[in-house]
Amino acid sequence: MKLSARLAALAGSSALVLGALAGAAPATAAPAGATAAPDISVANVKQHLTDLSTIASNNGGNRAHGRPGYKASIDFVKAKLDAVGFTTSVQQFTYSGTTGYNLIADWPGGDPNQVIMAGSHLDSVTSGPGMNDNGSGSAAILEAALTVARSGYQPTKHLRFGWWGAEELGLVGSKYYVNNLPTAERAKIKGYLNFDMIGSPNPGYFVYDDDPAIEQTFKGFFSGIGVPTEIETEGDGRSDHASFKNVGIPVGGLFTGASRVKSSAQVSKWGGTATAFDRCYHSSCDTLSNINDTALDRNSDAIAHAIWNLSGTSTPPTGKVFENTADVSIPDNGAAVTSSVTVSGVTGNAPSNLSVGVDIVHTYKGDLVVDLIAPDGSVYNLHNRSGGGTDNIQQTYTVNASSEVANGAWKLRAQDKAGADTGYINGFKLTFP
Ligand code: TRP
Ligand code: ZN
Ligand code: CA
Repeated sequence: MKLSARLAALAGSSALVLGALAGAAPATAAPAGATAAPDISVANVKQHLTDLSTIASNNGGNRAHGRPGYKASIDFVKAKLDAVGFTTSVQQFTYSGTTGYNLIADWPGGDPNQVIMAGSHLDSVTSGPGMNDNGSGSAAILEAALTVARSGYQPTKHLRFGWWGAEELGLVGSKYYVNNLPTAERAKIKGYLNFDMIGSPNPGYFVYDDDPAIEQTFKGFFSGIGVPTEIETEGDGRSDHASFKNVGIPVGGLFTGASRVKSSAQVSKWGGTATAFDRCYHSSCDTLSNINDTALDRNSDAIAHAIWNLSGTSTPPTGKVFENTADVSIPDNGAAVTSSVTVSGVTGNAPSNLSVGVDIVHTYKGDLVVDLIAPDGSVYNLHNRSGGGTDNIQQTYTVNASSEVANGAWKLRAQDKAGADTGYINGFKLTFP
């Protein structure tokens, strides 16, 4: 069986390959398959805010639950979405004797079993028009939704937007929505992104520390524009994402600060003054002039970045590649050896179409047994001594790994079961589609 001449020839080329790969990093993660997000027009976002301000002025100065300014806000947002092709529905609930409303808008298309949702509360407190809290988030996701329609975006996943009622009275609307969603529908929501106060007049740039993939998507945007971020700590659970998080839905979001005071270190980092992030929080001066346009602009673009990136790939996880290119020699007719990658930041189980890239340089593939080993030790055979005298195994296998938890150490195991011909593992790559 031995092909001495070929072995000698291959030994020469192997040395080149080995040299070229010396020092390669053992494992890397990179997002794959996402479409670049368009720029969101901050002028359009501000126009929506102006319209919400007018609605407050025309309705006794606020947009609070149970007041006419709230329903007028719902009607305004709904009309904009209906005009561009969203499927909208208004969900009613009753709280403290008055009717409340959530607005849900679905963008037709995408995988109905994989939903990415963005939401903002649309109600204000009674003391003012609620421009930063939360006209800012409401207007930004409205413009993001209109941009989806205008650009004709057809994401792999299904997109949904939500505007919540009575957040200021205890996350009432979002709790109502989640509580009335059947378990099967909850499971389809692969990410909920919350935007509550994203134009604070003395802004910080805070990212929620929840689902790691969502958090990384936001951080990636801000690092790309050179703006430092911090983890949101001004009251975790104080907005509508908590309603989703409580039932196990992965969440994330952005925030520019409420009544907490900006530290001098934060002033050095972001500019502004060592005073409250929003000195008009929950007060009558939360008007149109209580908005920092730069913060509103950056956060609006970050929202689009996250929506596009999280919806563009057909994952249960979010599109990641984990690769080990370190060489592992396979002893001739000897013990099994492994190459491993550590998967992290992937929510839930591995997909039913896990792609396993195998690169084994060997002079006789009929000697080899090759398996994929899941983090819990489950074995998936990829190759079992077939192929006779052909050499090398350089191919991608698709494995149904949906019963395996994605995160953890995965191994490629190779064993040479016959004497003479030899080789090595050249690369092992897992792709979460
Ligand atoms: N909507 C919140 C409120 O009115 C504002 C808020 C405070 C917040 N802390 C937060 C929003 C942290 C998001 C994250 O109380
Ligand atoms: Zn709020
Ligand atoms: Ca052999």
